[in-house]
Amino acid sequence: MKIQENVLLAPYTTFKIGGNARFFAQVSSVAELEEAVAFAKEGSDETRHLPIFVLGGGSNVLISDNGFDGLVIKNEIMGIVEEGERIIAGAGENWDNFVRYTVEEKGLNGLENLSAIPGTVGAAPVQNIGAYGVEAKNTIEWVEVYNLTTRKIEKLSNADCRFGYRDSIFKDERKNNIILRVSFLLSKNGKAMLEYKDLKMFFAGRADVPSLCEVRDAVIKVRAGKFPDLSKIGTAGSFFKNIVIPRTEYQTLLRKFPTAPAFLADPSRKVQGSTSTSSQNSVQEKSNDPAVKVPTAWVLDKVCNFKGVRRGNIGMFENQALVMVNYGGGTAREVRTFAEEIIFCVKQKTGLTIYPEVEFVG
Ligand code: EPU
Repeated sequence: MKIQENVLLAPYTTFKIGGNARFFAQVSSVAELEEAVAFAKEGSDETRHLPIFVLGGGSNVLISDNGFDGLVIKNEIMGIVEEGERIIAGAGENWDNFVRYTVEEKGLNGLENLSAIPGTVGAAPVQNIGAYGVEAKNTIEWVEVYNLTTRKIEKLSNADCRFGYRDSIFKDERKNNIILRVSFLLSKNGKAMLEYKDLKMFFAGRADVPSLCEVRDAVIKVRAGKFPDLSKIGTAGSFFKNIVIPRTEYQTLLRKFPTAPAFLADPSRKVQGSTSTSSQNSVQEKSNDPAVKVPTAWVLDKVCNFKGVRRGNIGMFENQALVMVNYGGGTAREVRTFAEEIIFCVKQKTGLTIYPEVEFVG
């Protein structure tokens, strides 16, 4: 395994933004990973105690224009093992190739709604990726990690991972863990989740139940209409998380914006001013005041009018107001400045605080 110096990180991210990594290593096995970690921890006097950042598909990061003054480890640990309905995948596997394999080759149900999400298998548990009413946490059985502090391999159960909405233990307490493999429990006879508005509309009028492959194809088509083509435009997907607030706070918002939509954890269950049942949302909630999700895309579009708005080389995508795009030559500074403007506008107009979903590095 080679440790390279001064490697430009922009091409390793889907945003196509970011300066140089001082050191950069591509690892395809635990042994190589240990070698890279040893280099950063006890290399020569000059390189000892370097900070480490682990890069997967680079699809949810904004790397600083100054780059990363440490060691970037690109996780390329591959391999897929099938044990009936349990499938174990290496962290470096491309996420969508993995989903295609489970759906099209194995006929297993569970991941079809998560089709066409950029990134790697190892990144899926970190932010508990989700789309069309399904989250990675629904099928993750365990996550195997390399603990940078103890330098040992450990296995975390689904409960240990403390999954929440775009959240997990890997974002804070276990930030010093490098994901090696993820085990998913899928099912041969499960039911596809078709409750999300976009999928309902896609299959409207269909009397029979669509096959898993049809659901995957539908998700791919719906996404293609909303997200930019990554081969042409840089983006990290949804730039902000959706707004999660107690229902009482949502009712206050409704007084000012009577058409503001909101959903419980199951997006098909609109709660606009209506009574609601229990939610599985990660945000703290009392039984009489459940947390609801207000689409930040709606606020950016309908309240702040940011849809399709450009600031230099950066803009909010014309088909989806939550997706920040780099039209070419954009910088992390431009992104941060625009993000601050957006956060400020939302605060001023609604009183609500929005948080980036994208991870800022360096
Ligand atoms: N909307 C607008 N204007 C827009 C876009 C959306 O008003 O320009 C409103 C519509 O009312 C729509 C609602 O916002 O019904 C929600 O929009 P959408 O269904 O497109 O999804 P989202 O809430 O913006 C989330 C995830 C996506 C995921 C989609 C589909 C977050 C932050 N984003 O977006 O995940 O693919 O749902 O399930 O949770 C990602 O995390 O990077 C990501 C792309």
